[in-house]
Amino acid sequence: MVEIAILGFGTVGSGVAEVIDRNQKSIRRDFPVGIHVKYILDLRDFPDSPYADRVVHDIHTIIDDPEVEVVCETMGGKHPAYEFSRMALEAGKSVCTSNKELVDAIGGELAVIAKQHNCSYLFEASVGGGIPILRPLRTSFSQEFITDVMGILNGTTNYILTKMEKEGLSFETALRQAQDNGYAEKNPEADIEGYDPCRKIAILASLVTGGNVKFQQVPCEGITKIDTDDFRYAASLHRVVKLLGVCHHDQESDKVYVRTAPYLVPEGHPLYSVSDVYNAVLVHGNMVGDLMFYGSGAGKLPTASAVVSDVIECAWNRGRNVDIGLHNTDADLGDPESVKDVFFVRMDASEKDRAQMLFGGHVQEVKAEGVNGEFAFLTPEMTDREFTEKAAEFETLKKSIRLLQG
Ligand code: HSE
Repeated sequence: MVEIAILGFGTVGSGVAEVIDRNQKSIRRDFPVGIHVKYILDLRDFPDSPYADRVVHDIHTIIDDPEVEVVCETMGGKHPAYEFSRMALEAGKSVCTSNKELVDAIGGELAVIAKQHNCSYLFEASVGGGIPILRPLRTSFSQEFITDVMGILNGTTNYILTKMEKEGLSFETALRQAQDNGYAEKNPEADIEGYDPCRKIAILASLVTGGNVKFQQVPCEGITKIDTDDFRYAASLHRVVKLLGVCHHDQESDKVYVRTAPYLVPEGHPLYSVSDVYNAVLVHGNMVGDLMFYGSGAGKLPTASAVVSDVIECAWNRGRNVDIGLHNTDADLGDPESVKDVFFVRMDASEKDRAQMLFGGHVQEVKAEGVNGEFAFLTPEMTDREFTEKAAEFETLKKSIRLLQG
């Protein structure tokens, strides 16, 4: 048996124990030695849990036990998750985590420590929940230059947007439903303001380029300003509003352009019909073309399943490092304001003439059933910088959303 410890017995941590117990037979089919949870570290006790006798409160119990070979860090947050992960790696124990905040902030450093101690730092569950995406990026794309990775990377906001679109629910009601279903982060700000998907696209961009892209370097916009009228306009354009993380790696300049924002996705695009809590990641390789990875992006068991897949990989590779491709060097980031887009804009109807003049007379008016008193239009293609300069001229500008090119 390979002995493991779980740090943090919350939603994902308890899911890890459940996946290992319920699927021990399946695990043994591929990894006959089997996996066993020896310790669970938490501040709390769980007297009614079948794991009550394995709960410990001191990290040293785990670090000092040579039998523990893999540690699952499912605590979330930076501290003490960083210190505990570091201690485990320095003791030669591999660490598997779902903690995207830590991976984004200090993952490169932890990956280097793992290499130095012949163990691994793996984080499949940090992006796309149960969807295998990081391992395929490493194992199946070595021969490719990946030009684009984009996706719906947050289940909560996709659920909210789907409810607003299909059932006409208000943002607040849809958010409450997402929280009741256990999809939202403890503090939903990370979901609705886009920080959670922004961290995920930063991790994907880091793996694709081989240099670190940090969450703070990525322009990030959430969905708090999206209203039901946006869906009416979107429908008249045969599009739908989706919160996307987008990453473009320019093959000529080697620069990487990353952004998280709501986009108007056209009918027929692979991301158009990704609904509810589902996530999807679209990868474009210069040889293979488009590939899409789709599945449950949040929730206890899908996320725990991804953690356990990493545990098994670490167990297979005991005594050596699995290099997932996260390095401790900076990526060559391009200027996001130089990227060209078409923008959908809503403003007061009184601004129509001025808007047409300022945006060059080439604007395409957009009408929506039941929405009055507004002038809504599509701009010509322009850089983000040009758009921001022009938009600043209009006090009544309510909204702008980028169009995803088909
Ligand atoms: N709150 C996140 C989501 C959980 O809704 O996608 C997974 O990171």
